[in-house]
Amino acid sequence: MDGEALEEALNSVMFKHKCMLFENILTSPEIIDAVEHMEIRDGDVILVTYPKSGTVWTQQILSLIFNEGHRNGTEESKTVDIMPWIELKINSEDFTSRPSPRLFTSHLPYYLTPRDLKFRTGKIIYVCRNPKDALVSFYHFYKMKSNIKCTIHWETFIEFFVSGKVACGSWFDHVRGWYTHKEDFNILFVTYEEMKKDLRSAVKKICTFVGVNLDEKEIDTVVEKATFRNMKHDPLSNYTFVPKEHLDKSKGDFLRKGIVGDWKNIMTVAQSEKFDKVYKEKMGDLPIKFLWDLNEENAS
Ligand code: A3P
Repeated sequence: MDGEALEEALNSVMFKHKCMLFENILTSPEIIDAVEHMEIRDGDVILVTYPKSGTVWTQQILSLIFNEGHRNGTEESKTVDIMPWIELKINSEDFTSRPSPRLFTSHLPYYLTPRDLKFRTGKIIYVCRNPKDALVSFYHFYKMKSNIKCTIHWETFIEFFVSGKVACGSWFDHVRGWYTHKEDFNILFVTYEEMKKDLRSAVKKICTFVGVNLDEKEIDTVVEKATFRNMKHDPLSNYTFVPKEHLDKSKGDFLRKGIVGDWKNIMTVAQSEKFDKVYKEKMGDLPIKFLWDLNEENAS
């Protein structure tokens, strides 16, 4: 019964295009098709994520790395404007007039990204997060969505997440798709957990990949301005500007907890074990490792 109500609610706000689920209010099949032909330049950097994996966090990091004005506070632009989404209609800008190096953001699966990227033009930073925490974050995020009118139950949401019936489809397919096609792209994989564990090292790793040389003091600034505590109160990066027609902020925050292992606070042992089984089936053959808890020594 729960499942039927949620299915109906989701079907009324999403469309399927080329095997992927998108939100009606955010994009259209025409935009998705056009993105495949978008011209990519050599200096372009594209951040790609599955939802709730650290997108806005990495937008902030990249914006700080590339913009001295952001680091020293003289430039006040929202990170979403500095790194616009290539597949969303919230931005009707003509990207060709942007000066290089251009920064972009995307949730697209590997097979729908601009074709130029497959010729190793431009650089992709793919940020992924352990799927249990991404699931929990997505659950809370869905509860904030103004256009979903039904009550969303946790148990039901797990099923929808696992079977890929949510926006951007299956976490497993998204991560697996990008990971198994990594040779086709100029791509750096970064995990949410490694950023949590050692943000400074993650920032340095990103700097090396994008070819930006920052001194130690500049790195300090990037790290400081990208902490959860600072971003939570920064209206330029905390997405509080999202209109209430999209997100009901009385029900929560975009920057909710920002921790690793929150799944332990909500998943029952049985739910977790069931999830582990699916994870093993779908991802077990890949060498990619996630930390499920920051205190854990062994990643799996
Ligand atoms: P939680 O809901 O678990 O708190 P995305 O930007 O891909 O939608 O991901 C959102 C998740 O990233 C949220 O997770 C949010 O709190 C977390 N996040 C955003 N900025 C962060 C930061 N500076 N440090 C840690 N987590 C951050």
